[in-house]
Amino acid sequence: MPSNQEWESFWKTGDTGWHSKNVHPMLEKYAGKFLNDQSNCRVFIPLCGKTVDMKWLADLGHDVVGAEIAKMPILNFFEEQGIEYVKESVPEIPGATRYKSKDGKITIYEADLFSMKKDIIGQFDCIWDRGSLVAMEKADRQKYICTMIPLMASDCRYLLDVYDYDSTKASGPPFDVPNSVVAELYEPTCVVEKLDTSKYGPFEDCVRTVFLLKPK
Ligand SMILES: C[S@@+](CC[C@H](N)C(=O)[O-])C[C@H]1O[C@@H](n2cnc3c(N)ncnc32)[C@H](O)[C@@H]1O
Repeated sequence: MPSNQEWESFWKTGDTGWHSKNVHPMLEKYAGKFLNDQSNCRVFIPLCGKTVDMKWLADLGHDVVGAEIAKMPILNFFEEQGIEYVKESVPEIPGATRYKSKDGKITIYEADLFSMKKDIIGQFDCIWDRGSLVAMEKADRQKYICTMIPLMASDCRYLLDVYDYDSTKASGPPFDVPNSVVAELYEPTCVVEKLDTSKYGPFEDCVRTVFLLKPK
């Protein structure tokens, strides 16, 4: 995975091909299963960038929490979406800053994802993992799972978007995450349901799969 400085630099140079002005089509398509027709869900978006999915979910009435290491996309998000915010320090996480919309519906931590602990940010009804697991180096995947699983409430719906491609022909991020790796990482703690498979993605012959994970 690129270093934190490299991610900052992608944002500064505009090398952010993953960002879209539109709500992610898989989130829209599976919103019913993801939100389970509940109102006021707590939704976590790891490695959130400045995704417009945060505003879309907040406008539906949900409480959104994001984690993002780079300051620039956080400031851009609030400015571009015309959302007023307050900025606070986070004494529990040295060096972290919390940006909270004035209506309290969107909170973004400028912090390393690996510092997100359930006693600090709580547990979530929903997790939207897009461009997050796939941004992790293989060596960090187990650490990633150990960070994410405790954040799942007992009835959490975790929507996961991954790519599978021939990693001898291209290299990430996004890294290739075959279905077998999803099973290896999540099946010890979650029921894993495959929702969608399509030939789409950033590389040739790339297959996107969307999973819905629920705690066992
Ligand atoms: C591929 S982008 C995905 C952004 C977003 N999920 C989306 O779909 O638009 C990954 C983002 O994670 C951020 N990031 C990378 N490593 C991180 C870390 N350890 N903790 C928090 N954010 C991180 C990067 O700055 C970048 O904005």
